[in-house]
Amino acid sequence: MDLPSGRVLVTGALGQIGTELVEALRQKHGYDAVIATDIRKAEGCQILDVMDKNEVKKLVIGEQVTEIYHLAALLSATGEKNPKLCWDINVTGLENVIAAAKENKARIFSPSSIAVFGPDCPKIAPQKTPLNPTTVYGKTKVVGEQLAVNSGIDMRGLRYPGLISYKAPAGGGTTDYAVEIFHSALENGHYECFVREDTKLPMMYMDDAIRATIELMSFPVEKLSESRGGYNISGCSFTAGELVRSIQRHLPDFTCTFKPDIRQKYADSWPEEIEDTTAVNEWGWNPKFNLDRIVDEMIANLGK
Ligand code: NAD
Ligand code: SER
Repeated sequence: MDLPSGRVLVTGALGQIGTELVEALRQKHGYDAVIATDIRKAEGCQILDVMDKNEVKKLVIGEQVTEIYHLAALLSATGEKNPKLCWDINVTGLENVIAAAKENKARIFSPSSIAVFGPDCPKIAPQKTPLNPTTVYGKTKVVGEQLAVNSGIDMRGLRYPGLISYKAPAGGGTTDYAVEIFHSALENGHYECFVREDTKLPMMYMDDAIRATIELMSFPVEKLSESRGGYNISGCSFTAGELVRSIQRHLPDFTCTFKPDIRQKYADSWPEEIEDTTAVNEWGWNPKFNLDRIVDEMIANLGK
């Protein structure tokens, strides 16, 4: 077992990523070394509201936390419904975590997103390009990347693509259709998709995302460039129609209709693919799951 010098804190631990990251970190460091927290209550997870600056600081100092995975946030679709709350949780919450980390010389992992890109970005998003997101969620992620490189502490992030997983539901993002579709396909044989059939976005299976997170955090900070605020990492890119056809390999009677809503606008403002040579060259990023393999895993695990 790989024991860290202090304890590991995960905020937003009950969400789509936290559910699996906490499991992986507990396997790596031991159960008690990892403090899972969320604003919601559950077994094995304690309450911590990242908006409560004093409580965050008290926990980090009191529990001698030296590594923080800060996952508490509002995602794009929920964020657009309540932009002020999105800004408060995603930016003020992060500032509270940074302040606490400074007190105890803790390192931080803070996820960024493909939502940092805006409509002026090329369809294949480079690592370095002007970041002009249209969603408030995207804007909070740009601020997060800037804080990562300017706050004077060891802080890193990944521009996660849309994440596909089966252990926890997707948390209110634009890419949620790529998770919901599996549940509907297995339960009802039909899905009404909220983006167009030709909508193509960067996606990633959760196993790849968790591995990327742990690999990035294991790398010496002095070997990372300023891109550490938010590395582009690619998994695979596919249209909603291609996803349907891949699912039909397993469920030939599955049908899908397409009824775009407001989330189409957010999807249209994001790139179709991610160019990730910086992550490949700096810390050896290498994705393992393509579309068909993701679908095979999702159907097998949800079908159990
Ligand atoms: P999620 O919505 O599933 O989980 C977020 C968790 O944060 C929830 O359990 C929620 O209860 C908790 N939370 C909300 N407000 C809080 C507060 N004030 N204090 C403490 N906890 C609070 O999100 P996720 O998909 O697990 O995403 C985690 C991080 O990864 C976020 O920063 C998100 O922007 C980023 N990200 C996710 C994806 C994706 O596809 N899932 C893609 C790119 C980036
Ligand atoms: N998957 C996320 C969302 O759709 C992107 O960060 O909001």
